[in-house]
Amino acid sequence: MRKIFLFGTMKHKCYQGMTFRPYITGSQITERIKELAARITSEYAGRTPLFLCVLNGAAPFAVDLFRACEDIDAELTFVRLKSYEGTGSTGVVKQVMGLSENLEGRDVILVEDIIDTGNTMVRLLADLNALKPASIRIATLLFKPAALVHPELKPDYVGFEIPKKFIIGYGLDIDGLARNLNDIYILDEESC
Ligand code: IMP
Ligand code: MG
Repeated sequence: MRKIFLFGTMKHKCYQGMTFRPYITGSQITERIKELAARITSEYAGRTPLFLCVLNGAAPFAVDLFRACEDIDAELTFVRLKSYEGTGSTGVVKQVMGLSENLEGRDVILVEDIIDTGNTMVRLLADLNALKPASIRIATLLFKPAALVHPELKPDYVGFEIPKKFIIGYGLDIDGLARNLNDIYILDEESC
């Protein structure tokens, strides 16, 4: 079902008949996470932020970012919601599931893999604000500004701004696959 083939030294990946080419390497991600963690560490000094990871996609990023913030006290927890099938947003945003922590008075850092239209984040922020946290900031590994339909949404910590193209890897999936790739890949024109 899935084959890996080589063009020179570039390893393309094939999922569902679509070709993906290398886009952001794992080491670039690691370097960028260190920079974001340095900012978070200085901005949250003396506080104990709660990293709220949005499963499944944000799991690798949230864990790596959390671990890179070892010089402050911090907590990590997970919620789940889903809005995406294949390469197009279904536009259906589901409820937040699995939040067991009391957010009242907490400094929350909401950790997402990607902000595309922003629909998911806007809905999530509304639900979380109702729980009266002291503050909420948004950390997203990837941000597609050209796809955003909510101009008021401004993520505080952005790993990489990317064009309005479909990408996979490092948590981002295509119908459940490719989350385990250590690099990020972008959809290519050619089929496979
Ligand atoms: P939004 O609600 O349109 O901002 O989409 C947010 C969710 O859609 C993300 O949390 C991802 O799960 C998924 N998503 C958006 N763009 C991509 C992509 O390029 N690759 C894989 N998943 C994506
Ligand atoms: Mg997601």
